[in-house]
Amino acid sequence: MKRVAVVGAQWGDEGKGKVVNYFAKDFEWIVRFAGGANAGHTIYVGDKKYVNHLLPCILPDGPGRGFLGAGMVVDLEQLVTEVEVLAKDFPGVGAKFAVDPEVFLVLPWHKQQDQLLEAMRADPIGTTGRGIGPAYTDKASREGIKLCHLFDEKMLMERLENSWVIKQNLYRDQLSMPPAELAEALMRQRDRLLELGVQVTGAVDMAHVFRSTSVLFEGAQGVLLDLDFGTYPFVTSGSCMAHGVSSVGFSTFELDDVAGVLKAYTTRVGEGPFPSEDDSDEAQGIRERGKEYGATTGRPRRVRWPDLPALRYAAIRSGLTSFVITKADVLNGLKTVRVCTGYRIDGVVRDVPSTSHDFFVAEPVYEELPGWRTTDDVNFLKYMTFIEQQVNVPITYISYGPRTDEMETKSRLIMNI
Ligand code: GDP
Ligand code: IMO
Ligand code: MG
Repeated sequence: MKRVAVVGAQWGDEGKGKVVNYFAKDFEWIVRFAGGANAGHTIYVGDKKYVNHLLPCILPDGPGRGFLGAGMVVDLEQLVTEVEVLAKDFPGVGAKFAVDPEVFLVLPWHKQQDQLLEAMRADPIGTTGRGIGPAYTDKASREGIKLCHLFDEKMLMERLENSWVIKQNLYRDQLSMPPAELAEALMRQRDRLLELGVQVTGAVDMAHVFRSTSVLFEGAQGVLLDLDFGTYPFVTSGSCMAHGVSSVGFSTFELDDVAGVLKAYTTRVGEGPFPSEDDSDEAQGIRERGKEYGATTGRPRRVRWPDLPALRYAAIRSGLTSFVITKADVLNGLKTVRVCTGYRIDGVVRDVPSTSHDFFVAEPVYEELPGWRTTDDVNFLKYMTFIEQQVNVPITYISYGPRTDEMETKSRLIMNI
């Protein structure tokens, strides 16, 4: 049975949603395994654009189904909204989704805490404000609420009351929505979700299904935003790597492919180190052509040249076995492309940073490559070959536009050149 994981190879927004949506036709299940509504995964159905924050990027009008795995943190209000939006165009689509009752919930308190903490930080992280850090913090400190708790009202009230006491001690009167009001809202959202047809079923009960069919695992964010190995502390609070599939009962050894989605240049939204720094007009032009504005917050993304040391690091850390390159069309028409090939760290040029700290002190070293007119141009092929040789990971697919069908295999591209 085919099992493939798709993860972001950079700082997120590489086009994972589009890539997953393209592959979706060949898989029975699409499983989101990490993150929350901080993600924004853009897909097109025909000409219509949808941004999924929580929902896996299934084909809403196709046969596959979507699963929200236990590694996620789920804002139920957001989930209901997303299913409702999709159900307007695709009646009954809710029944195509199932969510693991072990997922932790993002509560309104978490979103409030997220804002308060950002305001208190001397160096804000630039979070999405979606409550992700506080939700994962509560999970680790054993104060979290799981979806399964909503099916035991007594336990839910007890847990909310206990958590509220702790939060009141920490935040005084800065948080709104006391437990009784919150419990009521959560139950309403739970009921609405069930009404929309969404099933609450765990990976344990789904094990026989997942093991007898094809599964596409959809990662969120990107390796360099990973809590453990990204550019800490300017990271998200969950896992962005393929090993997150363990939350659905799989090992990475069982994956046929760990496909890293690689944008042909580099972007980052939020604060934190970004070594292939270059504020030229050209970089700003790329932002406009690539419409590099956050799918979740609308913030302008920082845009830089391709960064090979960061890609080598991501490939090692997340065990990438292939790349899907996206948005090369955005660079069409440039005379030359500057590629960061090394990091100068303490006066020595290195191929790959050893630690997440190296990203903070690295000075980029560049090489210049000829640009391409279109992605059918031989210079684009040379650019891809350069990346493959330098990073030692093959590029298998090329995405050359935002629409689902604007994608082809590299071998097909070679045949047409
Ligand atoms: P994700 O978070 O990795 O799913 O990526 P986002 O959806 O946040 O951002 C990617 C953006 O690029 C979206 O607006 C996509 O529609 C768009 N996109 C994806 N692939 C391509 C591509 O190959 N070319 C162009 N021009 N746009 C693309
Ligand atoms: P997708 O899945 C890009 C960034 C935020 C911030 C940092 C921490 O669409 O690629 P958080 O709200 O998670 O506490 O913010 O991580 N970030 C993303 N950047 N794409 C994402 O998701 C992101 N999710 C979080 O901008 O810098
Ligand atoms: Mg995104």
